[in-house]
Amino acid sequence: MIDSASHLTIKNKFLIFGGGFSGDYFAKAIRKLGCVALTSSRSIRNDRNSFIFNSENDSIPEDSIFEGVTHILSCIPPDKNGNDPVLKRLRNKIKNLSLKWVGYLSTTGVYGNTYGDWVSEKDQPNPFQERSQRRLNCEKEWINSNLPIQIFRLPGIYGPGRSTLEAIKTRKIKVIDKENQVFSRIHVADITNAIIYLIQNKNNLDFHPIINIADDEPCSQIEVIKYGYKLLGLKMPKKILFEDAKKDLSPIAQSFWIENRRVSNKLLCNKLGYKLIYKNYQVGLNNCLTNINK
Ligand SMILES: NC(=O)c1ccc[n+]([C@@H]2O[C@H](COP(=O)([O-])OP(=O)(O)OC[C@H]3O[C@@H](n4cnc5c(N)ncnc54)[C@H](OP(=O)(O)O)[C@@H]3O)[C@@H](O)[C@H]2O)c1
Repeated sequence: MIDSASHLTIKNKFLIFGGGFSGDYFAKAIRKLGCVALTSSRSIRNDRNSFIFNSENDSIPEDSIFEGVTHILSCIPPDKNGNDPVLKRLRNKIKNLSLKWVGYLSTTGVYGNTYGDWVSEKDQPNPFQERSQRRLNCEKEWINSNLPIQIFRLPGIYGPGRSTLEAIKTRKIKVIDKENQVFSRIHVADITNAIIYLIQNKNNLDFHPIINIADDEPCSQIEVIKYGYKLLGLKMPKKILFEDAKKDLSPIAQSFWIENRRVSNKLLCNKLGYKLIYKNYQVGLNNCLTNINK
């Protein structure tokens, strides 16, 4: 049941900090519901719905951008010191707005390595990588901000235009095999839809300040790659064992293989009743294929 009091309408204005892959997708969906949605970028875009924000210099949005804002979603990663870019530059500005809701896109990296075990919001974060420690710090800054904040922990994000299919086509993929290694993932449409579902049903659902958004089926990278080659009708190159591939990987690429966890979506999908559009990588990649074939 959707509560009409929290219906998103033309009266709602969203500021989306970080109009990248997820931010832009969210903005387009929210505009289709009749809301105003402005997205930030660090350089000028030829788009009347875009504004400039760069936490690393003086590119701060002008006052008119904040007029009438009801909702904020931040999709910007932590800065190099582990501070949140939006709070660092705009905290006072945001605190003076009459906000109904604030969202922050975080990562499941804050859970650290669970050696393949399931991890849920009930588990204490145990960040292993430095970037995940920075992320956890940003989560804390948002939680302590006294804003009506809801944090979404996300695994690997994919969707039309940014998926294994593009990686195969542009040959930016290595077919690496590591025994017992799994990754969780989420289609960008489910990030958007789940957030809209939670906002629209805000008054009927228990409020949870931290929610994982992940699909139902964590699995190995090679399984997804195999399926990608099959969908594209291409022959998959010979796989390389991780131990052999490791030396040629960048430090950041190596770091992704160090952690092994299965991210639970039970809070979102069982308790809060969200129905995934793309419950696993197969249905998700089939959707991405329509974009490739356009
Ligand atoms: N990609 C993944 O698989 C993944 C997984 C889990 C969580 N996340 C996190 O989820 C969020 C959204 O991910 P995404 O992949 O959709 O992001 P994305 O496409 O990389 O976009 C990031 C956005 O942040 C902006 N930005 C970066 N640094 C900034 C700064 N110092 N000041 C102002 N703006 C800045 C970028 O501006 P420009 O548009 O000017 O470049 C861009 O719009 C990010 O925090 C990301 O770290 C990502």
